[in-house]
Amino acid sequence: MEQPIISLRDVNTYYGESHILQSVSLDVFRGEVVSLLGRNGVGKTTTLQTILGVPSPRSGEIRFKGEIISGIKTSDIVRRGLGWVPQGHRIFPTLSVSENLTLAASRARPGSWTLPKIYDYFPRLQERRNARGDALSGGEQQMLAIARALVQNPDMFLMDEPSEGLSPRLVQEVGDLIKDLNRQGVSILLVEQNLHFALDMADRVLIMNKGAIVFQGKPEQIRTNPLLCGQLLGVSMGKEPRSGLVN
Ligand SMILES: Nc1ncnc2c1ncn2[C@@H]1O[C@H](COP(=O)(O)OP(=O)(O)O)[C@@H](O)[C@H]1O
Ligand SMILES: [Mg+2]
Repeated sequence: MEQPIISLRDVNTYYGESHILQSVSLDVFRGEVVSLLGRNGVGKTTTLQTILGVPSPRSGEIRFKGEIISGIKTSDIVRRGLGWVPQGHRIFPTLSVSENLTLAASRARPGSWTLPKIYDYFPRLQERRNARGDALSGGEQQMLAIARALVQNPDMFLMDEPSEGLSPRLVQEVGDLIKDLNRQGVSILLVEQNLHFALDMADRVLIMNKGAIVFQGKPEQIRTNPLLCGQLLGVSMGKEPRSGLVN
């Protein structure tokens, strides 16, 4: 039986008295790209943050590479090989590109992604290495956010809406990057609002509604199921190929 790289079992997360994640169970197997979809506010970001330990789940079990990680500090979880690309391309705005990357590299696990290799792979970041984070375009910030996670040599990425706010050309670029990293063996749990992008990337798709996983299947099953698209995702397929989800 194939080992999941990450697995959640009956995970319940609260913000104060609000019960957000409702018995969430999911697996991502080694080498997979799994897209986690759902309308705004259903708990996608909370799922990724719960995996990273903040907020910590009130009950349930989270395993990464077979070991329980619930209760472990976020920085230690990252050090074990879980890369985090937060929503809104969050980088350090007052630090330069090179300072952002050097900081991440100083905490990195050993591996093939060194700073020179990162600059090779992202020539635009090399050109912009002295620019401050807040002087970068949205696309450059997203590349930096991904590069910063990558230089830590993760076995798996958690990516929160990497296509958000990017032009179609840059969405394509981020998509090519995700596929390339996946070909190199990185597993990815991808949270998205852009349905077409998410389906293009994914080996498997999960749909979340009101804090629970309500559908698991292949991208094809969603493309051919208007009910799923309409009720759970708030989009109709086929009319507008580049549309995102309606909130
Ligand atoms: N820090 C927080 N404190 C209280 N409630 C929060 C917090 N973050 C998110 N929530 C609530 O949790 C629910 C799920 O949010 P989130 O996981 O961000 O959804 P998504 O990423 O799917 O848009 C929403 O109702 C949101 O208002
Ligand atoms: Mg979110």
